Amino acid sequence: MRLYPLLLISLLLLFSACEKKRVPVTASCLDIHKSRSDDHSHTAQKKELTSLQHQYDECGTVKCCELYIENVIAEGSAVLGLPAGVMDGGYATPKDAKKIAAYVMTLSGKSPSHPNYVEDGNLYYNGNCGGCHGDDGKGLGGTYPDLTLPLLKGAGLLKGKIAKDITSLKAKLKQ
Ligand code: HEC
Repeated sequence: MRLYPLLLISLLLLFSACEKKRVPVTASCLDIHKSRSDDHSHTAQKKELTSLQHQYDECGTVKCCELYIENVIAEGSAVLGLPAGVMDGGYATPKDAKKIAAYVMTLSGKSPSHPNYVEDGNLYYNGNCGGCHGDDGKGLGGTYPDLTLPLLKGAGLLKGKIAKDITSLKAKLKQ
């Protein structure tokens, strides 16, 4: 009986440890760093090629664009080299980020996965993002990234990187 409190405390500790380890956004289409493997066998390389091709095909889909935006809101972005500088992470909570991402989809004429998020997303966007990206999403005349592009520039860079990795893996597999 006396062990009960101890057991409870250890369970609580375990839970909080797992909670901290949780990554804010996990997306197969953004997982290019995780697909690297130390196993260089032919089978492992073939598996990696399939996974990369899957990521390449997913790039540009609504699901992937939304995850990309959620990821930028959570982690920030420093890939475009604009004179305006980088974007810090943490502009919105993960829940609000989903709503904002849904709204941003509509800026390039896409239907978001959750159309019911758009109205709230619009409000959050105007409050947190419009100051830089403009209420119309066009980036205040190019000072900030244009969020109305069908494939956002950073996502395009990611896609280009995946394409390069696919080419070099294919060359390796032919050897
Ligand atoms: C203080 C100005 C500022 C605010 C506020 C801001 N951003 Fe940004 N954002 C930037 C800059 C600068 C970049 C480009 C950073 C880089 O070099 O990668 C950027 C990049 C992005 C990108 C990637 C664009 C691309 O072409 O790949 C997305 C998506 C984005 N922001 C969405 C948002 C959203 C959504 C919000 C609100 C929650 C927001 N930003 C708030 C300045 C801002």
